[in-house]
Amino acid sequence: MLDWNKLEQECLSCQKCALAQTRHNVVFGTGPRDAEVILIGEGPGENEDLQGLPFVGRGGKLLDDMLEVIDLSREKNVYIANMVKCRPPHNRDPLNTEQDACIGYLRNQVALIRPKIIVCLGRIAAMRLIKPDFKITKEHGQWFEKSGIQMMALFHPAAILRDPRRRPETFEDLKRLQAKIQEICDHTY
Ligand code: URA
Repeated sequence: MLDWNKLEQECLSCQKCALAQTRHNVVFGTGPRDAEVILIGEGPGENEDLQGLPFVGRGGKLLDDMLEVIDLSREKNVYIANMVKCRPPHNRDPLNTEQDACIGYLRNQVALIRPKIIVCLGRIAAMRLIKPDFKITKEHGQWFEKSGIQMMALFHPAAILRDPRRRPETFEDLKRLQAKIQEICDHTY
């Protein structure tokens, strides 16, 4: 396991997969490094690639609004990262080979942060981190425990933007997240 400086340095110069050739920036992750809650998306889109920060486009604005509903923010109390740190061309799903090449960075981040709760944003992260046959339409908002960490998935903000009917369910899921934080976290609220 690398310390934060080494990890970030290695990640920012990574050449482990072909996404390195087309990226403008590596999107390492952002937020307090002692957060009890980590959110994990799929991979950077165009705006994220240009700015080097996760969830800064339209979906990012929605994500910030969702977090605010339950008193969370990336400045204050959640860490945000992605399954892959470099943008897949045309926003396609990251390939398994790309996820395999990249997941070590995320595992190292999780090991350093030691969160109580991991929230997967969308099916790509949930299938990789919770279980391979994860069904987002059926299993969003449900709690799973892995290695002492409570895990759940929310609909991806981009999916909510595409289909606003997912908003009420997402609101319920956020309330469940808030209740779990109140139950098991010490300094998030
Ligand atoms: N979608 C993601 O999954 N992650 C980002 O950082 C931006 C959009």
